[in-house]
Amino acid sequence: MDVYEAITTRKMVSAVESKAPSRAEIERLLAAAVRAPTHHLTEPWRFIVIAGAGLDDLGDAMAMRVRAQFADSPELDQKLELEKSRPKRAPVIVVVIYVPSTHPKAIEIEDRHSIGAAMQNLLLAAHGMGLGAYLRTGPAAFDENVRRFLQLDPGEEIAGFIYLGYPAPGQPDSRSIRSEISERTRWVGWD
Ligand SMILES: Cc1cc2nc3c(=O)[nH]c(=O)nc-3n(C[C@H](O)[C@H](O)[C@H](O)COP(=O)(O)O)c2cc1C
Repeated sequence: MDVYEAITTRKMVSAVESKAPSRAEIERLLAAAVRAPTHHLTEPWRFIVIAGAGLDDLGDAMAMRVRAQFADSPELDQKLELEKSRPKRAPVIVVVIYVPSTHPKAIEIEDRHSIGAAMQNLLLAAHGMGLGAYLRTGPAAFDENVRRFLQLDPGEEIAGFIYLGYPAPGQPDSRSIRSEISERTRWVGWD
């Protein structure tokens, strides 16, 4: 698959098998992620790769917000079970963490662009390797309990949870819609 084909056929894959990709495969994805452009080489990222019992622990951490938020709800138990089960939607989650740079020339918005590019690199590499990947954030990405579980330092942020696995058979082959390029583009100095 060439690069253009990878970019234009990539899509989020939510249904994956329970068999985990190998550590070597994940390392290959991370090696692609860190090739994202990074001004002044600030490399504003780090990764936490979670599998197995770690996903249960992440689910428990995510459920703490739900327990507090819905303490009086008659549906608390169902909501807790749902939240705990969320990380188990794939056998591996790569948590992509934005690390604010201490480089004297670092420009925050540029580093935020870089982290997005790193996540896209990872998604594209996964697609090229035949893996299914799904980038998610949601309330858990901004939750103190989850931050504590992941031992984030002050200033660090969860940029995304990238769920990874082998695509389950029978995936829909449709892609999400995009606007016409002409609606989003102004050409200057062209006839
Ligand atoms: C920063 C970011 C966070 C996202 N978080 C979620 C999420 O929490 N849940 C979800 O279903 N999709 C999430 N998505 C995926 C988008 O919904 C998805 O990219 C969009 O629907 C387009 O689908 P496609 O990437 O397959 O073309 C997120 C995407 C980005 C860029």
